[in-house]
Amino acid sequence: MHIIKTKDYAQMSKKAAHLIFAQVLMKPNCVLGLATGSTPIGTYKELIQWYEQGDLDFSSVTTANLDEYKGISRENDQSYFYFMNEHLFSHINIHPANTHIPNGMEPDSDKACKDYNSLLHSIGTIDLQLLGLGHNGHIGFNEPKDSFSTRTHCVTLSNRTIEANKRFFPSIDDVPKQAYTMGIQTIMEAKKVLVIVNGEEKASIVNQAFFGPITPLVPASILQLHPDCTLIADEAALSKTNI
Ligand code: F6R
Repeated sequence: MHIIKTKDYAQMSKKAAHLIFAQVLMKPNCVLGLATGSTPIGTYKELIQWYEQGDLDFSSVTTANLDEYKGISRENDQSYFYFMNEHLFSHINIHPANTHIPNGMEPDSDKACKDYNSLLHSIGTIDLQLLGLGHNGHIGFNEPKDSFSTRTHCVTLSNRTIEANKRFFPSIDDVPKQAYTMGIQTIMEAKKVLVIVNGEEKASIVNQAFFGPITPLVPASILQLHPDCTLIADEAALSKTNI
């Protein structure tokens, strides 16, 4: 694993955006795996700036997002569909038809997951997968459990995740309890993985995930086995490691 330590969130975002920039430049028709959450917002801002300056062209790029809450409509401002439009897609020249997110409004979990798996299969291997890191070590919504999930599946969110996400909802009761997520095997098959993490509250999980034993109880720990994984983390997030 390649580890890049940055001073702060702004620098982490810039460096992550540089790697995505390089990917799109080298392969204009690449497939990007994208994440939502607080961590990638700064990275997306950098990409938007480069697009606005005329340095980056997304017209041939395809994207596949990691996850979506189950039972939330695309118009709901807490849906990941809404998030992606708000923070990236509506600001760049990507074709909406080339952007993909699990269908949270499909009530039949088996169908939703099967459809997303077929879609992922049809767009081909992800060239670069961007990941944030959950406080419990989740990636996508692959929560800690006793085995690594492979393909897209429906998850019941852990109390820790519901607690962490309640800040975006009027109350904890409004946080969806289930989500559809890309599986670990799909993430591991991406040619490159880029994990971004910031803040002291993630220091302990960074240490466990990237310097501890590989276990499904810390889903991100599997990334230690990925042949091309880069972790970009700020000083605070790395403060419990020797880096
Ligand atoms: C979001 C996702 C999650 C987040 C993680 C960190 O699509 O897949 O795994 O990356 O929960 O979230 P933040 O960045 O809000 O700390």
